[in-house]
Amino acid sequence: MFAVTAARIDADDPLSGLELGERPEPEVPDGWVSVTVRAAALNHHDVFSLRGVGLSADRLPMVLGCDAAGTDPDGNEVIVHAVIGDANAGDGDETLDPRRSLLSERYDGTFAERVVVPRRNLVPKPAALSFEQAACLPTAYLTAYRMLFEKSGAQPGSTVLVQGASGGVATALIILGRTAGFRMWATSRTEAKLERARELGADQVFPSGARLPERVDVVMETVGQATWAHSVRSLKPGGRIVICGATSGDAPPAELTRVFYTQLSVVGSTMGTRDQLVRLARFCEQTGVRPVIDSVRPLAQARDAFAAMIAGTQAGKLVLTP
Ligand SMILES: NC(=O)c1ccc[n+]([C@@H]2O[C@H](COP(=O)([O-])OP(=O)(O)OC[C@H]3O[C@@H](n4cnc5c(N)ncnc54)[C@H](OP(=O)(O)O)[C@@H]3O)[C@@H](O)[C@H]2O)c1
Repeated sequence: MFAVTAARIDADDPLSGLELGERPEPEVPDGWVSVTVRAAALNHHDVFSLRGVGLSADRLPMVLGCDAAGTDPDGNEVIVHAVIGDANAGDGDETLDPRRSLLSERYDGTFAERVVVPRRNLVPKPAALSFEQAACLPTAYLTAYRMLFEKSGAQPGSTVLVQGASGGVATALIILGRTAGFRMWATSRTEAKLERARELGADQVFPSGARLPERVDVVMETVGQATWAHSVRSLKPGGRIVICGATSGDAPPAELTRVFYTQLSVVGSTMGTRDQLVRLARFCEQTGVRPVIDSVRPLAQARDAFAAMIAGTQAGKLVLTP
């Protein structure tokens, strides 16, 4: 079958390790199923994998990709949950299983004609969503869903600041939060990206690091080091930072005095559960909200999609179709 693999790790030149071509047909262990991929979507995670973050050389070659929607062997339309883990080992939450992994970390991923996953990882695709839209949900949108609706403590009407508004998770946060009635504010490094955040539904937008007109209830962090001090300073006393990523670095000064003196909470968040993916798909169906797609390309043009992700030029999800 045709697939997009990481063949080599190169921290400085990630595209050099990308290979497109024929791979052996995957075997299907007991309790797992082969899904015919109809659409898959890129995340920054796929670029990190080529750089060797979360993927070591001894696991290569590895089919990349976390996100997919397709059909199961009975022809049912499904979304593929990307967290491979044992919910029982995580007190009912597979993301808390110490041995859990994401597709493309230990098991081959979704940038292929077929992907093999545990049967439990199939979620019904609402007919109202296209395969391309459904393929955007399992990583960035599920992560945003958990951050907003499980971890943040925000209520409709709360003010939520999203740092680095143009990112995949950040975009999903703005879209889902706006739909749920949160007051979404956003920061970004360029005027064009701020304008884009406004179009997506951000109520107010600010250059990165700018002083805000008032302090906020919650800050959503994916940027890390570059925005951390601003996040800590932007919160109301008793406010909460929810963090799922640290693209710009993970060791900023912790600002501990401000954390305890203003009684802030810092809450980590990773992906979401299968049940949350079911609810996210239903949320899209009920509200009419849809993931924003930058472009849809054939899988054979995956290299262009990776280049766009590395350059940061996309506005929405980069989708691939086998
Ligand atoms: N824990 C999880 O489950 C989970 C799930 C998905 C993603 N993540 C992590 O979350 C992070 C974002 O992922 P993504 O796929 O959304 O990536 P992305 O689309 O590439 O977004 C990265 C964002 O970071 C900002 N940024 C990057 N470098 C910066 C710098 N030096 N200064 C300020 N801002 C900077 C950019 O903001 P502007 O250009 O708008 O300023 C951009 O919006 C990654 O670290 C990823 O690994 C974690």
